[in-house]
Amino acid sequence: MAIRFDDRVVIVTGSGNGLGRSHALEFARRGARVVVNDLGAARDGSGASSDAANAVVKQIVDEGGEAMANGANVADYGQVEAMVAQAVDRWGRVDVLVNNAGILRDKTFAKMDLADFQLVLDVHLKGSVNCTKAVWELMRERQYGRIVMTSSSSGLYGNFGQTNYGAAKMALVGFMNSLALEGQKYGIRVNSLAPIAATRMTQDLMTEAVLGLLEPEAVTPAVIFLASEDAPTRQILAAGAGVFARVVLQETEGVFLPQDRRDAEHIADMWDQISDPAGGVELQAGGEQTMKFLQKAAAQLGLKLG
Ligand code: NAI
Repeated sequence: MAIRFDDRVVIVTGSGNGLGRSHALEFARRGARVVVNDLGAARDGSGASSDAANAVVKQIVDEGGEAMANGANVADYGQVEAMVAQAVDRWGRVDVLVNNAGILRDKTFAKMDLADFQLVLDVHLKGSVNCTKAVWELMRERQYGRIVMTSSSSGLYGNFGQTNYGAAKMALVGFMNSLALEGQKYGIRVNSLAPIAATRMTQDLMTEAVLGLLEPEAVTPAVIFLASEDAPTRQILAAGAGVFARVVLQETEGVFLPQDRRDAEHIADMWDQISDPAGGVELQAGGEQTMKFLQKAAAQLGLKLG
């Protein structure tokens, strides 16, 4: 069945360019009313202009869709609140939020100013928190919401020169994990995208041939799926070059060390077994780890829990 967004109101932050632009156009083609938010900043976050957002809105309207431009800086909560109020005034609701806006301030950690670290956290992490906060109550009241964070392989796995960006991108996964649990009983599902695309953000990092494969349009189906009515929740979907893969956070089975061997030396001795991925599990909430550990310890000690 075709996935549609008729009567749904969708906010895509940073959708004047790159991935966000591609997402916004596709939501509109599938019937959504779209808030095209973009500060119009340069890649490093400097400056502001409404040209890019206006151009995307014009394209949506030319294609027969409905959209409004918004120039809020996602790092500024007052501006984000005003953006959400603007959407609600015009269309009465917000069903989907795609937190996509982002900047780069790459440097090795040795050379990085704390100000550049903070700015990247402010835009990616705080920006996503601000936008989520501003729609959360509305979604709870309506018992419906789909929120997509934009993470990155740089956060999930690391990337030289991107400690600030990687920290922010992995923080979004942490934000998602708890938010998805809190949203569950209100019909709110929260997921993360880990995209790879040729945009101005990556233009310096890849060769021409590789860039050709990585059109933003190859990522957008992942966002459409994660924002759809039947979307899963608390998932990380990686997408790029037409490839889609679920990212899984697993914990190894682990070993129990009895008290007479409970020291760093025994951890060193057992390291191969402790880190062996065979028998690893994917946990659905922090408390599941506590249960797993208690059960393992109790089994080894011949104790009954509870
Ligand atoms: P892009 O630079 O083409 O687009 C980002 C947009 O965000 C720009 O239009 C910019 O004006 C806007 N923006 C920046 N700061 C803003 C703020 N404070 N408030 C509102 N809008 C703001 O970059 P791209 O590649 O499309 O990135 C989109 C998202 O995907 C970002 O979160 C990025 O970190 C993430 N990402 C991209 C990857 C890639 O391969 N392109 C890889 C992994 C993650």
